[in-house]
Amino acid sequence: MARKIVLTSGKGGVGKTTITANLGVNLANLGFRTVLVDVDMGLNNLDVVMGLENQVVFDMTDVIMGRCRAKQALVEDKRFPNLFLLPSSHYNGKTKILGEHVKSVLSMLDSSFDYILIDCPAGVDAGFHRAVFSANEAIVVVTPHLSSIKDANKVLGLLDEYNISSKGIVINRLRGDLLASGEMLRVEDVVRALHIPLLGVIPDDDAISSACSVGGYLNSYESTRAFTLLCENIHSGTKKIYDCEMKYRGFMGYIRRNLKRKV
Ligand SMILES: Nc1ncnc2c1ncn2[C@@H]1O[C@H](COP(=O)(O)OP(=O)(O)O)[C@@H](O)[C@H]1O
Ligand SMILES: [Mg+2]
Repeated sequence: MARKIVLTSGKGGVGKTTITANLGVNLANLGFRTVLVDVDMGLNNLDVVMGLENQVVFDMTDVIMGRCRAKQALVEDKRFPNLFLLPSSHYNGKTKILGEHVKSVLSMLDSSFDYILIDCPAGVDAGFHRAVFSANEAIVVVTPHLSSIKDANKVLGLLDEYNISSKGIVINRLRGDLLASGEMLRVEDVVRALHIPLLGVIPDDDAISSACSVGGYLNSYESTRAFTLLCENIHSGTKKIYDCEMKYRGFMGYIRRNLKRKV
């Protein structure tokens, strides 16, 4: 049986798709058969971020409509053995896809995978329900900003209505320089505000932004380490949190901070 984890947030643009993709790559690299599921019908994103858009033949709607089997709709990522993508519908068609439909598709993949990561669309309406309905676990992605924390809090309340056995947060886009100078909410503050276990933190990293803008998996030193730790924590239950502030401490850190400010 696969662990079915939904990545959600309420707010858009906080990094759900980015984290789903990178977590998938890390889990696959560890040898776990992983499928990334895009349920943002009509606004496919995950295939673009993964650079797999041109390889999509069938999608989730085709499986639901009986035009292909679930496994036929999977796109294999040739760069990473064990990693697959189940694309969302590319057309904003008339088919209304419900959480129950997604659940039945995922149940066809359940026994063949170790991890099913579900990338939730923004908002808390039908798309949210569609994504969360089949999951057993939830990762709430939040940025260190009050509006994101407020939305995450709302989502955590909504998750109580589903069959979710464990919830954790990932704090994305932490800026080490701003943390060191006391200009950004600290990790402890965010955790205290949301009252759920911290699974990991991801630094704000220009390499992520540029990898996403051209489509394709990132390969950057700083965030790669943070994703590795996040992946370990999720898989093994460890609590290793990446130190985003490290390179901005001390004398050299002071210089780096000032240089970053000037850029
Ligand atoms: N840690 C990060 N550092 C820099 N840019 C990031 C980071 N996480 C996400 N982004 C950028 O933020 C934008 C929104 O991310 P995305 O994953 O699409 O958010 P969501 O799926 O929550 O809407 C993308 O352009 C992405 O490249
Ligand atoms: Mg997204």
